[in-house]
Amino acid sequence: MTSNHLPYFHTLPEKDYQKVVQHSRKRTYLPGDMIVRERTLTDTFCIIETGKVEITKKFSDGEEMTLALMEAGDFFGEMALLDQGPRSASVRALTETTILELSRESFEQLLLEEPTIAYGIMRELGKRLRETGALLIAHLERKNKELQEAYLGTVQALVNALEARDPYMKGHTERVTFLAKRIAQRLQIEKEDLFALEIGALLHDLGKIGIPDLVLQKPGPLEPEERYRIMEHPQLGEAILRNIRYLERSIPSILYHHERMDGKGYPGGLSGKSIPLFGRIIAVADSFDAMMSDRPYRHRMSLPQAVEQLRQGMDQQFDRQVVEAFLQALEEGEFDRILQGNPQT
Ligand SMILES: [Fe+2]
Repeated sequence: MTSNHLPYFHTLPEKDYQKVVQHSRKRTYLPGDMIVRERTLTDTFCIIETGKVEITKKFSDGEEMTLALMEAGDFFGEMALLDQGPRSASVRALTETTILELSRESFEQLLLEEPTIAYGIMRELGKRLRETGALLIAHLERKNKELQEAYLGTVQALVNALEARDPYMKGHTERVTFLAKRIAQRLQIEKEDLFALEIGALLHDLGKIGIPDLVLQKPGPLEPEERYRIMEHPQLGEAILRNIRYLERSIPSILYHHERMDGKGYPGGLSGKSIPLFGRIIAVADSFDAMMSDRPYRHRMSLPQAVEQLRQGMDQQFDRQVVEAFLQALEEGEFDRILQGNPQT
């Protein structure tokens, strides 16, 4: 083992270590003893002379996380030398443990008498603070991911409710979501936006929940009044989700997925790039899947027919760049699983 792998205070020359010992107060703890309690005030920096300790932190959701296990030669309580705030973690003795306690005052004394040793310790403290920061960030990222998964679960429940009402919807949402995500990746959309798009794609037709069964499940061409009812679904969806803050960024997918580049779409009659990108992406994914699905009053198109339809719709119905991204993905086989009836990502 090289000295780099040794706990810091075991890397000090014996005479330097003894200098530190001279400035410290020695204390012994039994297994299970609390050495430092989170949120209490202490002003001591602690070096483990013998034994083993566990450092833990409690989060507001009650979860306790082990930050580290430490052995002889290691140290904790470094924040005590920097501020007088409450401790951010607890330390418990796992075995009989001897601690060298160095108060802020003693450390200042060491700094005056042995600056080289004291600066060495401070460099090590800086390194430790960075490592702890990285650990906490990793924890936050994990929590964020769990939260995203919980969001997705809730959204999926809404989608299931919607699909249960409309048999022609079965699988459509999942396929549109898959296609939209792949298009977005081709367009190099940021990871965070991708998540908002995914939620938007899953919920794009949520407003259909507010449309009567007689209209929604009518097995033939629609009367103008019925068509008008169906055309309300983007706004109905937006109205359902408007006040849910974490869905804010997904609203454009829902509200604008039936807009057209030539301004002849609904509900806003927006045109060109004034249609939010999420809306333009879902429009292509949604239309493609509709073309490729059987309906009571028409058969599905063949793949070449659907591709031709998308090409012809460029600049009028669809955003050219979005269609091109779609066609590239299609050519490279990214949609093979969808075309074979299995949209699992
Ligand atoms: Fe729709």
